[in-house]
Amino acid sequence: MKELSQGVFWLLLAWSAASPAEQNFTPVSGSAFLSGQMREMQEDDFANPGMDVVDYGRSLFHKADEEGHRCTDCHGEDGRKLNLQHIAAYPVYDPGQERPITLQDQVNICWEERMDNFPLVYDCREMVGLETYLKYLARGQTIAVKTDGPVRPFYEAGKKLYHQRFGQLEMSCYHCHDQHRGAWLRGQQLNQGQSNGFPVYRLSTSRVTSLHRRFSECLASFRAEPFLPGSDEYINLEVYVTSRGNGLKIETPAIRD
Ligand code: HEC
Ligand code: HEC
Repeated sequence: MKELSQGVFWLLLAWSAASPAEQNFTPVSGSAFLSGQMREMQEDDFANPGMDVVDYGRSLFHKADEEGHRCTDCHGEDGRKLNLQHIAAYPVYDPGQERPITLQDQVNICWEERMDNFPLVYDCREMVGLETYLKYLARGQTIAVKTDGPVRPFYEAGKKLYHQRFGQLEMSCYHCHDQHRGAWLRGQQLNQGQSNGFPVYRLSTSRVTSLHRRFSECLASFRAEPFLPGSDEYINLEVYVTSRGNGLKIETPAIRD
């Protein structure tokens, strides 16, 4: 019965009339929907449990590989020579690969081509650790993803996916994160589905969750088939979703339920 009523609820959500949510869109960070206590935890580096993953990423960044190469060889101790504003612009179009690359792709380019290692698997523990550390270094930088020029077709593909109905319940990202934003669902208030806090620390699972994993969790929550981490679909979706947050500040590691 619970299952059934939930299904009916989803259908009602999916088919209710479109609201003018997309017009005059102002990005709001998911952190604005947190309780005061969780916000405090997020903002206090000593209380934020995501800092363990930042420290893990930091140790990888300073660790020598088998040949003795380190990220710090080129990017400086504590990443001092990194271009932090550039980190807030990912995914960026890569002319060599003729596609947008995410921050994880960039790490793999450095890891594989500049340090001569076997590529890391997308979303593996090391990758998410490095990504969390890099985004933490760029905390406070303003998200500025390009949506014009050669990245445009990928942005459009991501936007299409965002509005596409998936699974038996025929729901789209848009239904929950635009049309029904602010509504309460299973004890959680629907936010805009912004990516500026990712990777985020989840109190419910006691672990850090990557953006692509969150996409999969959302799809699975309304019984749609997820795509693979690092797939073209998720990268296009990341271009669109992240650009919806242009103007927001990076808040990694954000805290979520
Ligand atoms: C041999 C030098 C070298 C090493 C070692 C290296 N990188 Fe890079 N990295 C670069 C260069 C050059 C660029 C920027 C140019 C570009 O756009 O490709 C870059 C760009 C980046 C960027 C984008 C931000 C920026 O400052 O442009 C990140 C993030 C990054 N690297 C992470 C890493 C990580 C993590 C490691 C270790 C796994 C690493 N890099 C190792 C040379 C290196
Ligand atoms: C059935 C409703 C529903 C649908 C449809 C849905 N989501 Fe979500 N989404 C949620 C809930 C619930 C959360 C967790 C609470 C929150 O952060 O709003 C969430 C969280 C997120 C977050 C994290 C936001 C943050 O600040 O931590 C992102 C990003 C996201 N969703 C993206 C998507 C994308 C992309 C799609 C389409 C593939 C999608 N969602 C479809 C319900 C949904």
